Amino acid sequence: ARIRHYKWNVKYEFKSPDCYKKLVITINGRTPGPTIIAQQDDTIIVEVTNSLITENLSIHWHGIRQIGTPWSDGTEGVTQCPILPGETFKYQFKVDRPGTYLYHAHYGMQREAGLYGSIRVSLPDGKSEPFAYDYDRSIILTDWYHQSTYEQATGLSSNPFVWVGEPQSLLIQGKGKFSCSSVPSPAGVCNSSNPECSPYAITVIPGKTYRLRVASLTALSALSFQIEGHNMTVVEADGHYVEPFVVKNLYLYSGETYSVLVKADQDPSRNHWITTNVVGRPPNTTVGVAVLNYYPNHPRRSPPTIPPTGPIWNDTAARLAQSQAIKSHSGYIHTPPPTSDRVILMLNTQNTIDGYRRWSVNNVSFNLPHTPYLIALKQNLHHVFQQTPLSDGHEFLNYDIYSVANNSNATSSNAIYRLKFNSTVDIILQNANTMNINNSETHPWHLHGHDFWVLGHGSGRFNISTHPKQYNLVNPIMKNTVPVHPYGWTALRFRADNPGVWAFHCHIESHFFMGMGMVFEEGIDRVGKLPSSIMGCGESKGLGRP
Ligand code: C2O
Ligand code: CU
Repeated sequence: ARIRHYKWNVKYEFKSPDCYKKLVITINGRTPGPTIIAQQDDTIIVEVTNSLITENLSIHWHGIRQIGTPWSDGTEGVTQCPILPGETFKYQFKVDRPGTYLYHAHYGMQREAGLYGSIRVSLPDGKSEPFAYDYDRSIILTDWYHQSTYEQATGLSSNPFVWVGEPQSLLIQGKGKFSCSSVPSPAGVCNSSNPECSPYAITVIPGKTYRLRVASLTALSALSFQIEGHNMTVVEADGHYVEPFVVKNLYLYSGETYSVLVKADQDPSRNHWITTNVVGRPPNTTVGVAVLNYYPNHPRRSPPTIPPTGPIWNDTAARLAQSQAIKSHSGYIHTPPPTSDRVILMLNTQNTIDGYRRWSVNNVSFNLPHTPYLIALKQNLHHVFQQTPLSDGHEFLNYDIYSVANNSNATSSNAIYRLKFNSTVDIILQNANTMNINNSETHPWHLHGHDFWVLGHGSGRFNISTHPKQYNLVNPIMKNTVPVHPYGWTALRFRADNPGVWAFHCHIESHFFMGMGMVFEEGIDRVGKLPSSIMGCGESKGLGRP
């Protein structure tokens, strides 16, 4: 195993990823940032310098479990104090499994300002994957807003509430195309011929097979991804091998990663479109396009066809069916424990709390304390967060998920769930109607520090006496991010076997900002000595940096 050492400088720059010039956050001048390429069991060291001048920072390594290094998870308020402007912080962790992972900012809403990238971990020498391909490529899909994260965050936390609205464009590997003529903008702000926004091109050699690692880090949107005229065989999800299945449209939710195999077996005399479009919400965002460039055609040559638009936005059944189709590869099954020690129901609703619009789980909307939980729990700093235990939610089993939420008794809290070390925990995510009539959204939930088994997805209200009998205990896929579909439920199981403090939250940036998340503690007494570099804020002031 090797040590891979990176030095990153994070700053704001003016860029035009979709032809519209705005402030974006870059790493060493780039967004998406550099791809981390490593081999299983390598140690990654990233020294991050915060050159944002007036803004804090932290970076999360999404999908890396941080076994033995919970302080390197990069979750501001949970596992560390923020990196202050001018400071350099050192993340150090092991990548202990092959697969496709991500990194992104985990402070405020910085992720959607462009601070993200890919982590690709390959197998040790001499080991091979259960599928064959000639070349390996990574792309990240995002949605893109022209408003700054400050304007968005201020609107979301104002009364009256100002919703961020639909994104202006979709980016494929950091490139998109906003139609400059659609909205008047000051001279020089939007320029459709700026080379910064020419479509991303993936060059392929006819006849070869490509492993395409596709991930979504959208702020809001659920996406469909397609390659004109080509089938995709899904072989990996969130670092786990999938029993292969073929799709024309791949649905992706923020925080998910997939590998698909694509054979360059179509007309080699031309290029082909790669597109992504919004699903799950009435789309008001232009389709994102990139080019599958068949060598030796010029990569800038437009395909002669109209880009395919993808499936209709409100076909929830097709999306549920794809979620249900993802099973563990038969040669790589990790069998889940047959039963669990604790079942937590998590009802997802919108609420108004003191006049402010919030998202809640079991009528509790989450907010972060000033002292990160990891430090508070390890150093016995009492009273820096609420000690009232949160409910396991069984009182919401009969909640009417189809009626408009009012839930006037909702509250805000920074309390956490404390899990018995090594116990098996089931989480039932239950979706419901929002505060608008006939509306239920899609929420991709992401767990830090673990992979969970996806035991089932269903539509309607979860029934605790019948649905568990339908759980897939034979070949469930393990993931770190999973959607709960509109008016649906998703059941997960995980072992609380990673000492530390771990966030579990909706990966939609505005939803987490509005309280859609929580924190689990397990085995805090087994956590080693905390590095002083994570301290220095809130009640950990005196414990911190000199
Ligand atoms: Cu990728 Cu806590 O997030
Ligand atoms: Cu959400």
